[in-house]
Parts: sequence; C-alpha cells; structure tokens
Amino acid sequence: MSDTQLHEQLLIIDFGSQVTQLIARRVRESGIYCEVHPYNRITPQFLADYAPKAIILSGGPSSVIGDKSPRIEDSVFTLNVPILGICYGQQALCLQLGGTVETSTEREFGRADIEIVKDSPIFHSIGEVGSTHRVWMSHGDRVSKLPQGFEIIAKSPNAPFAATEDKARKYYSVMFHPEVVHTKIGTQLLRNFTHKISGFKGDWTMAQFKDESIAAVRRQVGDGNVICGLSGGVDSSVVAVLLHEAIGDQLTCVFVDTGMMRKNEADEVVDLFSKHYSINLVHVDAENQFLDLLEGVSDPEQKRKIIGKTFIDIFEAEAKKIGGAKFLAQGTLYPDVIESVSFDGGPSVTIKSHHNVGGLPERMDMELVEPLRELFKDEVRELGRELGLDPAFVERHPFPGPGLAIRCPGVITKEKLDLLREADAVYLDQIRKHGLYNTIWQAFAVILPVKTVGVMGDGRTYEYALALRAVTSSDGMTADYYPFDHEFLGETATRIINEVSGVNRVVYDITSKPPGTIEWE
Ligand code: XMP
Repeated sequence: MSDTQLHEQLLIIDFGSQVTQLIARRVRESGIYCEVHPYNRITPQFLADYAPKAIILSGGPSSVIGDKSPRIEDSVFTLNVPILGICYGQQALCLQLGGTVETSTEREFGRADIEIVKDSPIFHSIGEVGSTHRVWMSHGDRVSKLPQGFEIIAKSPNAPFAATEDKARKYYSVMFHPEVVHTKIGTQLLRNFTHKISGFKGDWTMAQFKDESIAAVRRQVGDGNVICGLSGGVDSSVVAVLLHEAIGDQLTCVFVDTGMMRKNEADEVVDLFSKHYSINLVHVDAENQFLDLLEGVSDPEQKRKIIGKTFIDIFEAEAKKIGGAKFLAQGTLYPDVIESVSFDGGPSVTIKSHHNVGGLPERMDMELVEPLRELFKDEVRELGRELGLDPAFVERHPFPGPGLAIRCPGVITKEKLDLLREADAVYLDQIRKHGLYNTIWQAFAVILPVKTVGVMGDGRTYEYALALRAVTSSDGMTADYYPFDHEFLGETATRIINEVSGVNRVVYDITSKPPGTIEWE
C-alpha cells in the first residue's frame, strides 16, 4: 500500500466485457475497494501510483489471436502481486507468459460443468478434487498450451484448461465468469482469490468511505461555496446530506419543482431538507413555466429537450442570484464514470436523451464536486443509511428527471397530471401494503392518451384509461415485468377506479426491457 492510500485496493483491468462492472461489485461486496480501468490506460506510472495489492483481468469481446488484440501492460508482471485472469484475461495472460491460444471448434456459451482436478486455494470451501460445479462460460478461443509454471486445476468437457494456477507467482485464471450470478461458486472463488490468496483483510466499510469523503470534500472546497441541484431522488439527496455534514452553510441546494413530481413529493423534499436538516434550500416553484412550454407538445424527445433546457435555464438563473459559488455538486455514480472512459465506446444510438444537469458545469464555469463518483447505486443507498437518512427514503425507487411528463404519453395537461398523481399514489400504497416495494425496482402508473367507455352504477362513463408498470432489474439496463398475482391486480384496479375520479379502466403492462423500455417515453 502506498503512503497516500487510505485502504488496500484491488485493480480490475477492463478488456471490454459486458459484465466487468459485476466483478467490481462482487469485490466491493466483500469489503475491498477496487476500481475498473481500461487496459489501454494502464502505464507503469499508473501502476506505481495506484499500487494494487492484486489484479483481476476482465473478459472481453476480442480474440486474443491477432496482432491488434488488447494486451496486458508488461509492467503488470513486475509488480509481484497476485493476478486472476477471467476469460479473455485468461487467454491474454497465457499468451503473454509464453503459452498458446487457439480458436476452438467447440464453442461454449452459457452453462457448463467444470470438474476440479487438483486441490487449490482458489477452490477453498468450494469442493474436493472430482467434484463438479455449474458455471457460466462465454468464449470462442481457448488456451491450448500453458506457460511454464502453470497447472490445470479444473476442466470442462470442451475446455481442458477451465481453471489454471501458477502457485509460486500466485497467478490464477478461469475460462468461465465467476462474477455472474449463474456461476454459483463465483462469489466464493473471488473471495478465495482476494482474501486467501492475495491477503486482503476486507475491512473497507461505508463508515470509512463516509469519513474519507467528508475529508476529501473539505480539502477540495476549502472555504468556498457549493451549489447542489436537489431533485429529491436518492443520489442528489445523499450528496446534499453528505456535503452538509462536510461544509454546513457553505452549501446551498436548489430544488426546481417542475410540476412533474409525484403526489406530495415537493412538500416532502422541502420538509426534509429545509426543516429537518436545516440545509440552505432555494425552492423554485416552476410548474406554470414548464406547463406553458410543454403545451401541445406530444413528441417524447421534444418533451425531454424542453424540460432539460428549461431546468438548466432556471438552475443557472438561481445560481447567479445566490452568487459567489465556485463549485457545483453532482450525484455522478461509478457506472457513469466507467462508461465515459470506455476504450471502445464509440457513439451508441440515442434511445432517449436523458435529463440531468449535464452541460451545466461548462456553461457556468464551475468546478465539480462529485462525492459519489466511486459508488454503485446500492452503495449510495448504504451511504445514505450511514448518513442517517431514513431507510424508507433511501430505498425509494428511481424517478426520472423529466418526471411524470414521460408517463403521460401525448399532450400534457394539468388535469392529466393530477389524475396520474392520484392514481400513482394509490398504486404505490397497494404495493407497500402488500410488502412488495423493496422487491420491485420501479413501479408507476402511466396515463394513456385515450378515453374509453365504461359503466358505473347505472350510468355510462367516458374516462381516461391508465396503465400500471412494475419491473425487476439490477441496473435499469434490462428489466422483467413483475409477476403480480391476479388478485393484487384486480384489487388495485378496483381501488384506483373507485378512488380516482376520471379513470374508468386499468391495464397492466407485461413488456420486458428489451424490447420495451422501463418508462413509456
Ligand atoms: P428506460 O425508460 O430508458 O429507463 O428503460 C431506464 C432507467 O432510467 C430512468 N430514466 C431516467 N433517469 N433522467 C433520469 O435521471 C432521465 O431522463 C431518465 N429517463 C429514464 C428510468 O426511470 C429507469 O430507471
């Protein structure tokens, strides 16, 4: 560990696998601080500064056979630290240390069974020699000759080198992905690598992270003033409370009420931050401004652009009024940071333009304060609990920046938004009452741009139809619809129609992502 380092850290070298972030999550879950860095940013100087206690080489989409394929920076091998190569990482490790790799005719994708053929610390508490284990493979190439010093410790029908070890150098490699949940032995295997083989104590805690972050914010900001855009969502709320603990009144939060918030949300934000935490809070009620600008607009992208631009205009004007702030605080998370440094991250198709305060820092010429840059979403929640935020608040479902505007397909009116707010509140109340809130990633109602005929009492009705959405997900990138039982759905529809006048029909959205997205617009 270098002098400047506050905790032992592991380095994950990324070769572009879709699941590299999962390696980081598994490692962090076991109390070890780690960062993901692309293979082509690793230099001898970087390694000297970072001073990793161990290294994991990720998988990747390339074939190691070919001159231009990604390579491990050579000085990695002079550090004398344990290395675990996963999939592409295994092949690169093998090739660069003198082994050979070939394109296999028998590809293995998905489930495979490996058999342990030699006792090894990497299989501690996993199984004896001869035992078999279900793992998740995804590869085309395979190792055909091991470098000197390496031995086979597990094999599978199509992968004679499913796991290998060089015990003297503490170099390990696996052809399968221990980081994915389908590899049941994966968590223990990674733990064996970090704790047993590399000697990590696993004592990185959120309490420690909180103290370090507070000290870092104080160092960065000195006696300067900071402005923070508060949306009431988990990320910006955690940033606000952390900064308030670090710098007290040097922090001013700006809460722009777009009129697209859920029922009682604006009041709750003002109560919690202004009254309970006594944070300097500027509350801008901009409902009319947003409604005027959105009048008659039904195109989803146009809605998003109008909301994003108006938000930034208002925020900037308020910041100018406060005056004298040199810093802008943002709730940027680690997945955003990793994506933005991705080495082969060419332009991807824009499905939806996301609304956040992106673009503000350049426009306002302010320095950024981003205390959550190193955290995953679930870690932000843990930090929130550590800071004393109410668990119910910290566990709240994600809510998009454009708010209810993108849950109101077609033109937006105040009448529709009010109906949606009421119905959404009943739906969430049902979910909470049935104890389902924390098993669902996100649940919300959508008001449809159609009225349908119904019958209530003896009369005909002609009112709005509403869709309910609920999904499970681990990161919002993919999602499955939540399989409510029919009784729950029937009871919820009845409650909504009885309690919200103006709605006479309720449907349930059973689309997964892909092909659907979570939000309707
Ligand atoms: P989609 O609809 O793209 O949503 O499947 C994935 C996740 O992102 C949230 N979302 C947003 N969050 N600003 C945000 O901060 C946005 O503009 C935005 N649009 C979608 C969505 O709620 C889900 O959690």
